Amino acid sequence: MTPDAMPPQPPITVDATTKVAAVTADALVIFVCSRDGRADLGRGPAAAIDAATGGLLTRLAAAGELHGKPGECLALLAPPGLQVGQLVVVGTGAAAPSDPAAPYRAAATATRHLAAKPRTAVALVADPDWTARQTEQAVAGAAVGMVGQDLFRAERRRTPFPVVWLGADAGAVERGARIGAGVNLARRLVNMPPDDIYPASFAATAAAVAADTGLGCEIWDEARLVREGCRAILAVGKGSHRSPRIVLLTYRGPGVPEGPPHLALVGKGVTFDSGGLSLKPPDGMLTMKCDMAGAAATLAAAATIARLGLPIRLVAALGLAENMTGPAAYKLGDVIRARSGTTIEVHNTDAEGRIVLADVLDVVRGLGPAGIVDAATLTGACVVALGTEVAGLFTNDQAWCDRVATAARAVGEPVWQLPMYPEIYDDLIKGEVADIKNIGDGRWGGAITAAKFLERFVGGIPWTHVDIAGPAFAEKPRPWTDGGGSGAMVRAFVELARGLG
Ligand code: BES
Ligand code: MN
Ligand code: ZN
Repeated sequence: MTPDAMPPQPPITVDATTKVAAVTADALVIFVCSRDGRADLGRGPAAAIDAATGGLLTRLAAAGELHGKPGECLALLAPPGLQVGQLVVVGTGAAAPSDPAAPYRAAATATRHLAAKPRTAVALVADPDWTARQTEQAVAGAAVGMVGQDLFRAERRRTPFPVVWLGADAGAVERGARIGAGVNLARRLVNMPPDDIYPASFAATAAAVAADTGLGCEIWDEARLVREGCRAILAVGKGSHRSPRIVLLTYRGPGVPEGPPHLALVGKGVTFDSGGLSLKPPDGMLTMKCDMAGAAATLAAAATIARLGLPIRLVAALGLAENMTGPAAYKLGDVIRARSGTTIEVHNTDAEGRIVLADVLDVVRGLGPAGIVDAATLTGACVVALGTEVAGLFTNDQAWCDRVATAARAVGEPVWQLPMYPEIYDDLIKGEVADIKNIGDGRWGGAITAAKFLERFVGGIPWTHVDIAGPAFAEKPRPWTDGGGSGAMVRAFVELARGLG
C-alpha cells in the first residue's frame, strides 16, 4: 500500500437549528456534564431532550444509570419523542473546572461507538457552555473516534460517517475538522506497516502532504546528507538497504514577513527500530513501527498549522532512518563525528533516536528559530517513569517549556517535566574516547540522559524535548480510541503554534 496525502474525511457540517428534539438522523449525540456527582439536566440540549422524551433522562439519572461522568456513553435505541434511530448520551464530567480533555474524549467515545456500523448521518449537539477551543476539540475528537485501524481489513470494524454539528460556531467546527484530520494523518502513518513506510516513502508522503497543504518541502537524500555532513543519521541508517532522509518543511503564514522561524518542530522518524546490533527481543520489537510517531506528529502538526493559516513562520524537520542489522550496520565502539562536530561513541545501537536527532537538531539550529520542540519515541525509561499516557518534557529553558506544557494541557494532552540538573546528569554521558556516548552510566535516569544527549545539539536555543514513547502508541483500545497510533502531540503542537508569532 503506498501512503497518500491527507486522509479523506467524510463531511463535517454545521446546522444552526436550536430545535434539537426535531432533528432527523441515524443518531443524535448529546453531552451531559455532572454537578455534585449527578447528571446536570437542567439546561441546554439535555433539558430539551429530556422534555421531548417525557423525562427519559431524568428517570435514567434517578435510576443511577446516568451520572455525566467522563467515559460514560449510553446508547438509547428508538427513543420516544425524537426523530432519530438512537440517542447517545455522553458524559463529560464536572462542568467547572472542566478537564480540558473532556470534550475531545467524549465526542470520540460517541463516534467510536457509532462507527461500529455504517451510518448515513449523525448529529452531535455542542454543549452551549463550551468555549470555542472546547468545541474545536470536540469536533476533532468526533473525527478521530470514528476512525479505527482497518487499513487492511476486509471486514471493517469502524465505518466513518458524515457528521452535522448543532448549536456550534461554524469557525470552530471548521478548525476542529482540520485538527481532527491532522490527528488522523499521524495515526494512519504510525499504523502503516514498516515495509510500506520507510525513509524514502515517508519523505514522499511528506512531499504529498506539503503539496496538499501549501508547505514548502525539501528532501535530503543520501547524497545530500553526505554533502551536509550528516554522519550521525547516516550511521544509524547503514544497517538498512533503505537509506535515511531528512525532510524540511517550511511555512509562512499569510502576510507574515520573512525572518527566522518562530518555531522549529523536530520529529524522530525511525521507521523501524530493530535495535540494530544491540538487537531488541521480539516482544520489544513488535510495536517498533511506531518509532516514527514523532515525525508523524511533526508532519501532521505542520500540515494542520498550514491548513489553519496560522500567522507564524515555521520549520518542521523529520529525521527518517531505519535501524537494522545489515552487513554495514554501525557497531558498538564506533565513533561518529556528528554534523555539529561533536563526537559520539556508540555504546548501544538501540539508543539510535538521539543519534538521528543530533543531526536534525543541528540543521534546525542553523536556521536560528526562536524555539525548538522535538517529539520522539525516545526511551522505554520515560514509560517506566510516567506510564503510557503521559509524555515527558525536558528543557534548557523553563519559560519555553512552560509554553509547551500550557499548550498541551489546554487541549488535554497530559505532560510532565523531568529535571535536567547539569551537575548531576552532564557527566553521565561523557565518552571514553569521544565527547559523549549514546547511553548513560547504567540504566537509571535513562529518559533524562537521552535528553541530555539531545541538549548538546541545540546550541543554547530555547528547546523542549517531548518523549512520547508512552502516549504515541496504544496496545489496547480505550473508550475514546481504538489501539495503535494515537496522534499524540499533534493537537498540542498546533495549540502551541497558535500562541506564537
Ligand atoms: N524506540 C525506542 C524507545 C521506545 C521503547 C519507544 C518503547 C516506544 C516504546 C528507543 O530507540 C530505544 O530502544 N531506547 C532504548 C535506549 C537504551 C538502549 C539506552 C530503551 O529505551 O531501552
Ligand atoms: Mn532503539
Ligand atoms: Zn527507537
